[in-house]
Amino acid sequence: MTLLFLEPSTRTSSSFAAAMQRLGGAVNHFTPATSSTVKGESLEDTVRCLQSYSDVLVVRHPEAGAAARVAATVDLANTESSQMLQPLDMLHRVDSDKQGDCASSQRALPHGQCVVMNAGDGAGEHPTQALVDVFTMLCEITDRKQPRLLPLWRFERLSGFTVTLLGDMKFGRTTHSLAQALGTVAGANSKDGDKEPALTVVYVAPSELAMPTDIITAAAAAATAGADAKANTKTKTNAKCDAVAASSPNGVTVSGLCQRIADISALTSAPKKGVPCLLAQTDVLYVTRVQKERFPSEDAWQQYQQSVSTTAASSSASAVAASQAAASSSSGYCITPELLKQGEAKPTLRVLHPLPRVDEVPPALEATEPLRAAYMRQMRWGLYLRMALIAEALGATDEIEALYARAMGQAE
Ligand code: NCD
Repeated sequence: MTLLFLEPSTRTSSSFAAAMQRLGGAVNHFTPATSSTVKGESLEDTVRCLQSYSDVLVVRHPEAGAAARVAATVDLANTESSQMLQPLDMLHRVDSDKQGDCASSQRALPHGQCVVMNAGDGAGEHPTQALVDVFTMLCEITDRKQPRLLPLWRFERLSGFTVTLLGDMKFGRTTHSLAQALGTVAGANSKDGDKEPALTVVYVAPSELAMPTDIITAAAAAATAGADAKANTKTKTNAKCDAVAASSPNGVTVSGLCQRIADISALTSAPKKGVPCLLAQTDVLYVTRVQKERFPSEDAWQQYQQSVSTTAASSSASAVAASQAAASSSSGYCITPELLKQGEAKPTLRVLHPLPRVDEVPPALEATEPLRAAYMRQMRWGLYLRMALIAEALGATDEIEALYARAMGQAE
């Protein structure tokens, strides 16, 4: 595996590396500063080089769409490789089989072929993080009415959930991918004639950093595709769901997915008498930091800071905990233990965060509420998820299952 990271990373790069090593593979850490990138080599040429030596290319890049460019380059190289390089690749295969590399004899991915994984492209997407996030939700469910007995990988475990996304949804690529992943989960859980949505997703962002309309539409389309896949139908459904409609108080439901837009003040203040506030309705609170590095200029960042401090100071008295904490944070929102208390959060509520954090989730939260602070365990779930992903991509799942069965046998 080559880690082609052209942007900083702690968790994603380390977890991919650890996952590959735990599966018995090797990792090449590409370092931009000592590479031919500094001589002006293009991304495409760098990729043509690295794919020659890798089965998996994990890419992180500051531009949205860069991962698709990398994948297109690798696709071309894979085609050429299967047409031109096969004899030599076959020799390599015989050679590695002799050395007992059983993975190479059984795997589905032919030699000389490379798969690409997007580890974050600018303000675009971060799909493997979305898988980590959904997996974390599945692993973290404790005593809801959904029985623990359901296997971990069954999406029904999330049936009827409300997932509240809080933070920078304009630039936050993890929220873009997660919204669509949750659409798929909702679609897979939806049943004809359901009165309640299979999943409710609420987008809570400072007004400058709202969820883009195209992501809301894509999440609705994912729900429709998920529902169609379950029903095994091939009908093409028009899943248009615009942001204006989604801002209605009850949201808009498409194929089991209800999407709503709410203000930060709604976290702790009830919309009507007798209706619990948003925090009290929430099962998973997914927080992200403001992506300062993606603001177009220092001025734009300063303006944002100005506007959040004014908004926090003028918040209504009913949202006092939210506004007090927000006033002292640079993000404009802050999930303190006091806020969760004021919002009467369910005892089972879990707080997730892709991390890194700035000040939107203070260390006091994990200190006083370690169970709720699922973001600390999310990193480990990420290791296992990425191990599974790599094994699947390389077609090595049978081997892994056999190893697992052997290990379980030994443990008994
Ligand atoms: C995120 C990212 O890089 O998009 N982090 C991660 O991969 N775990 C979130 C962020 O940087 O805020």
